[in-house]
Amino acid sequence: MNASVNPDSGAGRGLALVTGGSRGLGLAIARHLAGTGWDVVIAARDQKALEAAADEAAADGLRLHPASADVTSEASVAGLFEELAGRGPLRLCVNNAGRNFNHQLVRVAGADRRELRAHPTDAWERVIGLCLTGVFLVGRHAAAAMLAAGTPGVIVNISSTVRSGSYGQSAYAAAKAGVESLTRTWAVELGEYGIRVVAVAPGVLDGSTLRERSAANPRHAAYMERLRRQVPLQRWCEEDDIATAVAFAADNPSLTGNVLEVDGGGLPKRVYD
Ligand SMILES: NC(=O)c1ccc[n+]([C@@H]2O[C@H](COP(=O)([O-])OP(=O)(O)OC[C@H]3O[C@@H](n4cnc5c(N)ncnc54)[C@H](OP(=O)(O)O)[C@@H]3O)[C@@H](O)[C@H]2O)c1
Repeated sequence: MNASVNPDSGAGRGLALVTGGSRGLGLAIARHLAGTGWDVVIAARDQKALEAAADEAAADGLRLHPASADVTSEASVAGLFEELAGRGPLRLCVNNAGRNFNHQLVRVAGADRRELRAHPTDAWERVIGLCLTGVFLVGRHAAAAMLAAGTPGVIVNISSTVRSGSYGQSAYAAAKAGVESLTRTWAVELGEYGIRVVAVAPGVLDGSTLRERSAANPRHAAYMERLRRQVPLQRWCEEDDIATAVAFAADNPSLTGNVLEVDGGGLPKRVYD
């Protein structure tokens, strides 16, 4: 999170919302936007975490406004947008809140390999609810707010390079493919109103999620290290690499319906352990 404050970089660019802005990628995006003149609201469920993120940003000269909301709840999203309406016209909505829970569709388990373990339905629903329905609910309100205000705006949806399919990630890959589909659909529906919709698809992020998982599990760390060497640039993405892609999508008046892949060149289609 290296967003530096540049007071000459277009202060007063308008109101931006970043969902999942209390930590990880969302916070890096929010800090980058705040550092380049956006008035940024960060939304997530945990109010204390939001306030801590805003306080830390303030200590670095960056202003973030915390607003607690659950993107999977229609009522909560409606409440968030009521709060936003009091801050002025929304110019940028970054649909970032998301999380993965790994499960194979069905796998053979047990010492005698006779046990079948199936993907739990609640895990499927949790990921689809957050990563796909959450994007739909927030995107719908954002577009309505932009139309009501009569000011063209931009919606940036965070997808993932795993959207074309990924081992152990049925729900997450399907949700992120859905995010690409929503992006292309909304781009053609909203283009006539001057609203642009762009997706940014990160590869693996060298962020807190990866670091915590690797620290807790040396096998995972070794596997990820082997995987990293398959990436053409042999590096994972930094959160700031994605933040600058989001800012580029927000600024470029000809971009809509695109998916910007930010992944160091990507992974081969299938990598064997
Ligand atoms: N990490 C990666 O390698 C990677 C790669 C490609 C794409 N992505 C995508 O990048 C985005 C951010 O990932 P990350 O790794 O930074 O995630 P993260 O560190 O787990 O942060 C997730 C953020 O979303 C918020 N959130 C979770 N559930 C929510 C809900 N129901 N309503 C509102 N906010 C909610 C969390 O706060 P609360 O828990 O307080 O709500 C938090 O602020 C996700 O869309 C993810 O799919 C990540």
